[in-house]
Amino acid sequence: MPNPLERYSIRKVEEQDLPAITEIYNERITNSTGLFIYDPLTVDYMKKWFETTKEMGYPAIVAVEKTTGQTVAYSYLGSFRSKPAYNLSAEITVYIHLDHHRQGLGRLLSLEIMRIAKDLKFKAITAGITSENTPSIGLFKSLGFNEAGVFRNTGYKFGRFLDVTFLEYCIPETEGPGDGKIPTFIPFPWDTYVYGQSS
Ligand SMILES: CC(C)(COP(=O)(O)OP(=O)(O)OC[C@H]1O[C@@H](n2cnc3c(N)ncnc32)[C@H](O)[C@@H]1OP(=O)(O)O)[C@@H](O)C(=O)NCCC(=O)NCCS
Repeated sequence: MPNPLERYSIRKVEEQDLPAITEIYNERITNSTGLFIYDPLTVDYMKKWFETTKEMGYPAIVAVEKTTGQTVAYSYLGSFRSKPAYNLSAEITVYIHLDHHRQGLGRLLSLEIMRIAKDLKFKAITAGITSENTPSIGLFKSLGFNEAGVFRNTGYKFGRFLDVTFLEYCIPETEGPGDGKIPTFIPFPWDTYVYGQSS
């Protein structure tokens, strides 16, 4: 497979990406059990997601096809669970436009988000994947995620109960802040981020 960086560039999400991101997401909402959402979302909804992600200091990145300028994939971290003891855990999401599957983008974006997570001092990256979504589970396992467990019949879509597989990747280098201190990650450098570079 050719190096995906010959065809695509990676940068932070910008507001202009939101229609393309919404379209990629809505295609999976409509046609797959990968998301436990029934109805397509609006660009305005995704704008709120974008603002919240920035405000909270989580990273969000896109892949742009160099020849067309089209935003074709995105990945981000979000809160795993909201209680403060979970602050150094984050959930990963990665979506690739159907026309750009199997070009190495899922691996490229996930690895970059994992690199960023280490920089921001997260401890654990989690992924909750519908168990029949074998491409995603295959992707994360190939990146070193371990299967943490399966919740049976916890989702219901298209008239069927669905299992959800949880995977996690732990970052050994991250240490806790010390007893009695509330853990906080370093906010993503939204103004200065450059692909592959630590701030
Ligand atoms: C899962 C997904 C992100 C993979 O992206 P991709 O760019 O097509 O994947 P890559 O080309 O980087 O492949 C990386 C690895 O993923 C796995 N993989 C990807 N597609 C696969 C498929 N159809 N079947 C089995 N394994 C697959 C393989 O391990 C692959 O490594 P290999 O090429 O050496 O075999 C993509 O299918 C997608 O966007 N799916 C919908 C969104 C989704 O379900 N996201 C997960 C929730 S966060």
